[in-house]
Amino acid sequence: MSNRARRRVVLCRGEYCNLGRRADKIYQKLQPLIDELNGDTYPPCIRLETASCLSMCGQGPNIVVYPEDVSFNKLDESTVEAIIRQHLSPCQSFTAEIAENVEKKHG
Ligand code: FES
Repeated sequence: MSNRARRRVVLCRGEYCNLGRRADKIYQKLQPLIDELNGDTYPPCIRLETASCLSMCGQGPNIVVYPEDVSFNKLDESTVEAIIRQHLSPCQSFTAEIAENVEKKHG
């Protein structure tokens, strides 16, 4: 998969996952992390979205990352950053990607 392929990080903010506003706290941690991973790429290669239920309430708070369709469960604000950093690498800037492709093509 190309580094520029779009990924969606979907955080459930449904009734169960957001008990005690725990999903809101995770969102507060995630937003700057996703911004950091996107860097100066345009359009951003990772999009943070929210859902009202991901149909796995008992395992919440939950996140699903697409297109891999990988879910992360029983998250809290202290674990989410390490988990997402382990799964998603920083987006490559468009300029760096062009330079890399030109170098591959022309040696
Ligand atoms: S409320 Fe989060 S999965 Fe249902």
